[in-house]
Amino acid sequence: MIERRSFLKMAAGVGASLLAPRLSGFAQLAPGADSQIDVLANETLGTIAPEIYGHFVEHLGAVVYNGVWVGEQSKIRNVGGLRQELVESLRQIHSPVIRWPGGCFADSYDWKDGIGPRDRRPRRTGFWSDDPKFVETNEFGTDEFMRFCKLTGSQPYLAVNLRSLPAEDFYRWIEYCNSPANSTSLAAQREANGARDPYGVRYWGVGNESWGCGGNFTAEEYAVEFRRYATWFPRFGVDMALVASGPSSDDVNWTQKFFEKLVEKDPGQLGSIHGLSLHHYAWNLSYGKSTDWDAAKGDAVKFDAQEWYELMREGARLEPMIQDHWKIMGQFDRKHRIKLFVDEWGPWYKPGSTATGHLLEQMITLRDAVMSGLTLNIFNRHPEKAGMANTAQLVNCLNSLFLTDGDKFLRTPVYHVFDMYKDHMGGSAVRTVESAPEITYTRAGSAAHFPGLQSSGSIRGKELMLTVVNASLDAPRETQISLRGVSAKSATATVLTSADMHDRNTFADPDAVAPKASSVAATGNRFRYVFPAKSVTQLRVQLA
Ligand code: AHR
Repeated sequence: MIERRSFLKMAAGVGASLLAPRLSGFAQLAPGADSQIDVLANETLGTIAPEIYGHFVEHLGAVVYNGVWVGEQSKIRNVGGLRQELVESLRQIHSPVIRWPGGCFADSYDWKDGIGPRDRRPRRTGFWSDDPKFVETNEFGTDEFMRFCKLTGSQPYLAVNLRSLPAEDFYRWIEYCNSPANSTSLAAQREANGARDPYGVRYWGVGNESWGCGGNFTAEEYAVEFRRYATWFPRFGVDMALVASGPSSDDVNWTQKFFEKLVEKDPGQLGSIHGLSLHHYAWNLSYGKSTDWDAAKGDAVKFDAQEWYELMREGARLEPMIQDHWKIMGQFDRKHRIKLFVDEWGPWYKPGSTATGHLLEQMITLRDAVMSGLTLNIFNRHPEKAGMANTAQLVNCLNSLFLTDGDKFLRTPVYHVFDMYKDHMGGSAVRTVESAPEITYTRAGSAAHFPGLQSSGSIRGKELMLTVVNASLDAPRETQISLRGVSAKSATATVLTSADMHDRNTFADPDAVAPKASSVAATGNRFRYVFPAKSVTQLRVQLA
């Protein structure tokens, strides 16, 4: 038997097209093909939560003001102050959920500042800058956000201020949002502000990054805080889902200590958590080149092959992280009722790659789209673990789907990936196994490796969705796709790639990187497809 790992190594070293090894348990690799993807349709993994295709909007730079909110008086096309093209685009990708108002901002935000007549709302110092130029006007508050969610068909996910407001404010915010019409004073206030019916907000994050900007707590200290917040809160008939502030990347210590302390007094306390949030940014640091944190980060648009692969590697680390945190969670929550919420993810580069220069705004290239395809595949492959994920952040920021400048608006390559993947939402995930020559690249003078192909699959009714990432910068992969347990009637292919790895959409050329239809002949339980270099592909297979 040829082990998958040895095959990969051998294929990488020998010249893949000469190989047609027998892979134990799987179909034989066809002559001429250098790669294979087995779709094990009988091995279902669980239902893909639509919420893993979620978004994140924070009061930071030009995310809210200029991005989401342009104001009712603006000449920019808007629906009651909300940028219309953004609303329409989010409907197009079936946006399932939006997290707001932060991020770090959330732990300095008083929700009461953002309700009532806009011209009477207080102007405050925002979390991200005390420069009076960037004063927080509070023009965009709870009711505007709820309208944004309603118009885009998304569920709201509110992050509660744990660092600087008492738990009572959490209860009152719930009351404002969810208490029935004609019940509490806050319901009356909501009605006066234009919303008679309750919003029925289900998702509530108790603090954000409580290990850092959210209070700099230890895991044990945060567990005590969480307990206090979660001991009582009004439900108003809503199936409330509390999200605990979880670890940064691979900090398993946080997860372990948090749960240990949480259950110390009463194991029943576990029942108060619906999700544990995990944040993972792919920093792509060039350590050694600089000691300054911003300068040490990689550049969004100027990068070489090594930086391309290093970003992929940083992004792919999310998969073992999910598995590691999950294992620890299982020690306490044996039935795995609590899910992981990766409610911030994406690449984070040094500032300065866009002309507008808004805080944390970065240019989005093909590289970010490929990394996003890879990341969404990871979530699809762990449907029993991933309850939600929110890319950071929606517009004019880190891994943004949109960039704006005044009335100019564009969809980035990352947007196209979300559009190509949207039909995975609610699908039944099936296991896919890739066998492809490993990518070899140079990392700090030594050879480093990255998987040749990465994929995920799901079935809905009579349709199989297969999304495949080929991160190689130069090698297309001639791939045999074997379907086990189902058979194909026909298929269509859509590919996102571009001539140069740095390619991106600009206001002058907004469709430079856009998906294209490609042909695929698929019948029976085996077919061929060539995945181009540096691409994300969607194969939509109609099943017999
Ligand atoms: O997304 C930007 C910031 O990154 C968020 O405010 C914070 O939660 C994280 O550190």
